[in-house]
Amino acid sequence: MILKKGMLNNIYKNLVTPILKKDTGIDAEYLTNISLSLLTFSSNNRNWPLIANILENLNQELCVVDQRLHQKICGIDFCNPIGLAAGFDKNGKAANIWKDFGFGFAEIGTVTKFAQSGNPKPRLFRLAEEEAALNRMGFNNNGAENLAKNFLKQGVDLKKNRNNHCLGINFGKSKITNLSQANEDYLTSLKLLIPYCDYAAINVSSPNTKGLRKLQDPILLRELLKEVKNLDNCPPLFVKIAPDLTFKDIEEICQLIIDENIDGIIATNTSLDRLGLEQRKIKQTGQLLSDENGGLSGRPLQQKANQIIKHIYNIDNNIKLIGVGGIDSPESAWERICSGASLVQIYTGWIYKGPQLVPDILNGILKQLNMHQLSNVREAIGSNLKWLE
Ligand SMILES: Cc1cc2nc3c(=O)[nH]c(=O)nc-3n(C[C@H](O)[C@H](O)[C@H](O)COP(=O)(O)O)c2cc1C
Repeated sequence: MILKKGMLNNIYKNLVTPILKKDTGIDAEYLTNISLSLLTFSSNNRNWPLIANILENLNQELCVVDQRLHQKICGIDFCNPIGLAAGFDKNGKAANIWKDFGFGFAEIGTVTKFAQSGNPKPRLFRLAEEEAALNRMGFNNNGAENLAKNFLKQGVDLKKNRNNHCLGINFGKSKITNLSQANEDYLTSLKLLIPYCDYAAINVSSPNTKGLRKLQDPILLRELLKEVKNLDNCPPLFVKIAPDLTFKDIEEICQLIIDENIDGIIATNTSLDRLGLEQRKIKQTGQLLSDENGGLSGRPLQQKANQIIKHIYNIDNNIKLIGVGGIDSPESAWERICSGASLVQIYTGWIYKGPQLVPDILNGILKQLNMHQLSNVREAIGSNLKWLE
């Protein structure tokens, strides 16, 4: 026994949280890269006795196994509804480890056709007081071909051989590709990676690639989705949208999702709106948030992202929804599910709260199922049921 029960949570609270609480502490991207390197090392050497032991303990501490959390969505088995959102493991380096952290699924990427270094640094900022973040990473990633090679090298199972471990891949457009050539860029990456995708997320909503959000225009999006759908062995498709769309824009997107038989929507990406934090200064740059480029994530996004899920669910409850944006507690995850999300994803909240957030959310959901006398998480979706104390 290497980790005692509760030890991981204590380490995170006593060592990592104090660093995260300071906006000017260690650079946010640097910290992310260190954690990712440790996770990659563990993922690649999971059979070493020491690492195997740590992972086993991690598993016991973080994994909540309960049939009431299981759902089959678009033919995919999700052992629980909590996923890691896109952007943390952009190159799939730790693809084999997310299940050990209790996640029911993880979304790798965003990956683009061409490898690219992203925007100049610094490009990720913590807003600790608000448990938020501002990022303008710009799809820094090693490219689709390298992601496929990396999966092969790591022995990531092809999707048909996975056991209770679901991987989505999030696809974007390369910076050097003109908007008029965007479809070919997405298609090239998809063709290389289809064998590994349980589902594909078509990302047309990152605010950090010039012109990308124009692909949310219904005419352009319809063309793109039609071409993707025509690929051999096309996996279930989800379109990831921005929180800055109007309800009318969203209605148009829903219509084309229905027309083209697309499986679902991931709502939402980060926001260009400053969500009441316009006058907040970024300590590292001395600039106001209203004058900085980038997308806002974390708690300030919670309400808006939830309203969008509600709106889409009311338009058509057959569209499968993955809710993301500001989920940082069992209550906010429950609310998102009851608003209509079949699955939820976390990123910024997971960084602030630490790995314990996953089992806390799952145990919270199970408790609510009991209190509301529901037999499965499916029954809570879109139910508008309140959180009971
Ligand atoms: C540093 C950072 C990088 C991100 N990179 C991506 C990305 O590459 N692709 C993507 O679709 N979303 C990306 N996102 C957005 C998240 O997946 C998520 O949609 C958003 O942060 C809202 O969720 P949250 O409030 O739980 O963080 C990124 C977010 C952050 C904070």
